[in-house]
Amino acid sequence: MPATSVIGLQWGDEAKGKIVDLLTEDHDIVVRYQGGNNAGHTVQFGGQTYKLSLLPAGILRPGVESVVTGGVVINPRAFLEELDGIVGLNGGVDRNLLISNRAHVVFPWHMAEEAVLEKGRGGDAIGTTMRGIGTCYRDKAGRTHAIRMGDLVRGESFRDRVETVVGHKNRVLQALDPESEPLDAEAIYSEYSQYAERLAPFVTDTTSHLHKALAAGRRVLFEGAQGSLLDLDHGTFPFVTSSNSSGAGIHSGSGVPERAIERMIGVVKAYTTRVGGGPFPTELDNEIGQHIRDEGNEYGTVTGRPRRCGWFDAVATGYGARLSGVDCLAVMLLDVLGKLEEVQVCEAYEIDGERTTDFPAQLEDLARATPVLRSMPGWQADLTGIRKLEDLPVEARDYLDVVAELVGFPVDIVSVGPDREQTILVDRS
Ligand code: GDP
Ligand code: IMO
Ligand code: MG
Repeated sequence: MPATSVIGLQWGDEAKGKIVDLLTEDHDIVVRYQGGNNAGHTVQFGGQTYKLSLLPAGILRPGVESVVTGGVVINPRAFLEELDGIVGLNGGVDRNLLISNRAHVVFPWHMAEEAVLEKGRGGDAIGTTMRGIGTCYRDKAGRTHAIRMGDLVRGESFRDRVETVVGHKNRVLQALDPESEPLDAEAIYSEYSQYAERLAPFVTDTTSHLHKALAAGRRVLFEGAQGSLLDLDHGTFPFVTSSNSSGAGIHSGSGVPERAIERMIGVVKAYTTRVGGGPFPTELDNEIGQHIRDEGNEYGTVTGRPRRCGWFDAVATGYGARLSGVDCLAVMLLDVLGKLEEVQVCEAYEIDGERTTDFPAQLEDLARATPVLRSMPGWQADLTGIRKLEDLPVEARDYLDVVAELVGFPVDIVSVGPDREQTILVDRS
């Protein structure tokens, strides 16, 4: 069963979108299986830049099928806005898009609850994207007040469901914030009914569809959102997202068993970034960090927030790679480090005087970790026009070797610019 998956191994924004776009050429179906419109994936080719959030990046290739499975949480308004932006580019999209009836729906109350909860944490705020993602997943786990795509497209019973849930949510929101405006069930029902009408033709049982597709030998590509260190169970809790964003989420989110995946590509930046709160041992809160931010244009695709930047962390990334079970690495944005005289990689942590290469499970331990940094000479060259590994400066090749050695997996792809063409495929044969 020839399935491939693309997983971020850091804290998100590793340039998964670019890799998915590249691989789409050799696949028939691209699948999003967790997260929601907290994701922002960028694809660049033919002089155009495309930003995708809920739609799989395969949507940009005519003829490729896009599937959004049950593990994704869907804001129908955001979904339709994105689709409307794409349909003009890819006229056949309507025939090639499927949405799971099991996927949970994001409603205005999810954003309202998240705003109150984040505000309540003050300086400890998670720094979420405010898209109602965590609150929607919370309702999914809670079961009593959740609504799925299958319910949304079911007419009258949907009206009753919205009334019940809004009654409950208004009581909760009033208790949390007495100044909050009550939600209007009828207005939400009528808005979402319109979305339902437009989305209904796409809604189906995607699990059974994917099982049949794999049995027929169709090539499936799984597009991860966020990164392994933001995984709800295995990441830097509570500064994580609310889904399994490591490889662990593929099976639960799509219904396709892990064993169907033949090749798992772990995507990493040549350095590290993080958006939102939480410990970040290799963070550079200085002019080098600002230099990386400027060179890499490190501002969030979704929220526009400046991304925190730091050196490549082989402890954290190695953990992400083992967690997700990758076969190889795609090292992205290598060009961004091109002006630095010296580059550094974190090869271990020191916690209370003890050296370790284990990634701590406890946030307080990670917060106390001092990175043990290996320094290397920079290559001080523009890499953006290079297309072959042997044409990279020796310092850049050494850097890639150190990354591969410390993380423990070979580098199969190197990216030296945002465009589809600015890619080096490593021949390991
Ligand atoms: P994703 O969420 O993992 O898909 O990543 P994002 O799209 O949020 O962030 C990656 C950013 O890096 C995007 O703006 C890409 O266009 C850009 N990008 C991708 N690969 C490269 C590269 O090799 N070099 C540079 N300079 N930019 C890149
Ligand atoms: P892509 O797919 C980077 C971060 C948020 C916040 C935390 C929780 O583009 O890599 P949430 O809204 O999910 O409850 O926020 O997770 N976060 C991301 N950071 N890339 C992403 O997605 C992210 N999606 C969520 O900044 O710290
Ligand atoms: Mg992103």
